[in-house]
Amino acid sequence: MNTPENTVRWHPVARSADLRPGANIVAGFAEGQELALWRAADGTAQAWENRCPHRSVRFTLGQVIDNRLACAYHGWQYEAGSGQCASIPAHPAMQAPRNVCAKTFGTAEAAGMLWVRLSPDALPVPDGLGNAVPAGWHFCRTLTVRVPAAMVRETMARHGLSADEASPAWRGPLDGVETAALVLDAQPLLSFIYLWTSAAPGSAEMKKLHAAARQLRTDIEARPQG
Ligand code: FES
Repeated sequence: MNTPENTVRWHPVARSADLRPGANIVAGFAEGQELALWRAADGTAQAWENRCPHRSVRFTLGQVIDNRLACAYHGWQYEAGSGQCASIPAHPAMQAPRNVCAKTFGTAEAAGMLWVRLSPDALPVPDGLGNAVPAGWHFCRTLTVRVPAAMVRETMARHGLSADEASPAWRGPLDGVETAALVLDAQPLLSFIYLWTSAAPGSAEMKKLHAAARQLRTDIEARPQG
């Protein structure tokens, strides 16, 4: 069932297209949790605490090697999925310690986004994530605003968007252009808004939405924070 209760625990942390298999590592946040986001060579998306369990160096400084993430400092390698330490290059003959494990979070890919669940419960992925952006819609842009997510939602409501009952998205026309907005509560004073639209890339409608998005950001940041 697509209730807000079972979708609010999932955070839209990045666009799926921004994670290339076996390649880059993207820094992310959700509710203040710093994340290292990457995609193993086998295509599976990973969301890990951005901290190596050896000496706490940020994983985002490291590199993806096939289906492993290698820390930049001493080169220890961790397996996609489990986060288990699998190799210590300085001691190739040594068995990697079983108790050294990166902290991993549950992920789902839906509506063109990577979603992360911070809670340890093995909750199923709700159907509502897949309904967040209608099929065939296009990505417009990401807005970064230094305000709480609640303030973002209040301002979006004043711009005519409303919470979708069947998904975590906010929907409606922004300056007349059909829009779906996904809000990420990144930190107490940092939010991201991913805007998707029915407008075609390069169209006059898309340009209109870009202008409306700039105005939305201005209005959000102009609001006094209580
Ligand atoms: S700090 Fe990461 S391998 Fe040592």
